[in-house]
Amino acid sequence: MTDDFNTYEDSKRAEAYAGLEFPGTYYLAYRDLPEIITEHAKGKKAIDFGCGTGRSTRFLRKLGFDGIGVDISEDMLSKAGEIDPEGQYHLVDDGDLSREQSNTYDLALSVFTFDNIPTFEKKVKIFRELARLIKSDGRIVSLVSSPEIYKHEWASFTTKDFPENKQAKSGDIVKIIMKDVEDKRPVEDIIWSHESYQDIYAEVGLQILAKYEPLGKEDESYDWLNETTIAPWVIYVLEQSG
Ligand SMILES: C[S@@+](CC[C@H](N)C(=O)[O-])C[C@H]1O[C@@H](n2cnc3c(N)ncnc32)[C@H](O)[C@@H]1O
Repeated sequence: MTDDFNTYEDSKRAEAYAGLEFPGTYYLAYRDLPEIITEHAKGKKAIDFGCGTGRSTRFLRKLGFDGIGVDISEDMLSKAGEIDPEGQYHLVDDGDLSREQSNTYDLALSVFTFDNIPTFEKKVKIFRELARLIKSDGRIVSLVSSPEIYKHEWASFTTKDFPENKQAKSGDIVKIIMKDVEDKRPVEDIIWSHESYQDIYAEVGLQILAKYEPLGKEDESYDWLNETTIAPWVIYVLEQSG
């Protein structure tokens, strides 16, 4: 696998993503975040790592955070700027956060970004940077796809054309198609198990304070497929250990 893997460096995909707010299965990613963030973050200064077209950064602002968004993709960031001209969005080189000061943020949020960061070494390097940027009582909230998302059918995703996903191991490329956008080309992600994330956190000196796996509820107005019994997303709340 190449080290500069980024499926979002693409203007057509950026366009499709910019139109997405919180449809279907995405609703479950964001549904519980306000409560989780309010419970764990102690202040209001935030960095949104892998902000894409700014959906997660705008979401933070609605929660009252003073947040900046950073991303590796110019295409995604230019959409973020169009949608939210007042927002602060910065281009970064592949996980290079060296322009950001240490010990600054109450919250480092990352929504789906680590699904696109290919190797153990690179994930470790970026988590080290995020750990450096948060204050000593700061929190990292990282939302990632669960390995199960690549193996089942969902309100917002299909994976039936990719049976090879079922055999994939941490670090392998897996494919998934988004049903809510016109661009039906498969998105390529990197699958990563809970055990492999634990290895990363241990290497960086991060402790899991909480882990959430939101499930759909029968009374929600979505046509859930597997969402009520299998969690498509995993949300980690992390703090510096020791
Ligand atoms: C699936 S999008 C999610 C965007 C946003 N967080 C949201 O919830 O809508 C993932 C984003 O991570 C960005 N990304 C991937 N690798 C990155 C890296 N090494 N450094 C910064 N951003 C990265 C991609 O460019 C993409 O915009």
